[in-house]
Amino acid sequence: MKDALKNIFFKIWYWYISTIDKNAEIIFMNYGYSSKSIKIELDKEDVPNRYSIQLYHHTATGVDVKGKDILEVGCGRGGGLSYVNRYLSPKNVTGVDLNKKAIQFCNKHYKGTNNIFVQADAQKLPFADNSFDVVLNVESSHRYPDVDVFLNEVYRVLKPDGVLLLTDFRQKKDIELLDRQIKISLFEFLKKENITNEVVEALTFATPDRKVLIEKMVPSFLQDLAHNFAATEGSTTYKRFVNRYFEYVNYVLIK
Ligand SMILES: C[S@@+](CC[C@H](N)C(=O)[O-])C[C@H]1O[C@@H](n2cnc3c(N)ncnc32)[C@H](O)[C@@H]1O
Repeated sequence: MKDALKNIFFKIWYWYISTIDKNAEIIFMNYGYSSKSIKIELDKEDVPNRYSIQLYHHTATGVDVKGKDILEVGCGRGGGLSYVNRYLSPKNVTGVDLNKKAIQFCNKHYKGTNNIFVQADAQKLPFADNSFDVVLNVESSHRYPDVDVFLNEVYRVLKPDGVLLLTDFRQKKDIELLDRQIKISLFEFLKKENITNEVVEALTFATPDRKVLIEKMVPSFLQDLAHNFAATEGSTTYKRFVNRYFEYVNYVLIK
């Protein structure tokens, strides 16, 4: 599918989720992370989102975020930023997303907390230079038309020595392009890690619950599509991770 068409498709899907999720059951939209090395004690209400939370935990603990000013770009429905805020003791957290409905949802769902949510484009961040210690970016950059512009914007809003924690997937053939985009940016590489195995394990473990949610919330004629978006076991997207057509990577980059 051509990129422009894919973008429209994803926008419609994110809008659709906002529309059907009346009880705020979907607060994460990522593929998750699972590994023996990660065992987080979660509050009861967070347990259903364990694998998505683990992806945030693995990414956000790329540096110590305690006492730091954090910006998340592409925060979606805010579950990840809320986790970081409640469990990892940052100073302030701000989330931005292009999707107006997602930001409306966040402002309502997390009302009364100190999480700040703003609608904005990753390629045009509405913040002053040198504003944040850490920028978090989880499974969102694959949607940006111009990743170079995004990287420049993040560099601009980070304080000196600030860190970009980025995790996302690409077609295997496009990982090299992402590496090159980072290399020609102003950032220094601190770490790059391929986490495809951990994502596949998470998808496998999360499949039974995701199937139940899809059957409950999505009309049957849209369920195949939903399985592909959720990458449940057996779906085309799941198989593409298993056979490494898609790869999932994690970067720690410093200003
Ligand atoms: C797969 S979801 C991930 C959301 C969240 N990070 C999570 O893990 O639950 C991708 C998100 O990126 C957002 N997004 C796409 N293009 C964007 C852009 N140009 N600027 C900001 N956000 C964008 C989408 O609206 C969507 O909420």
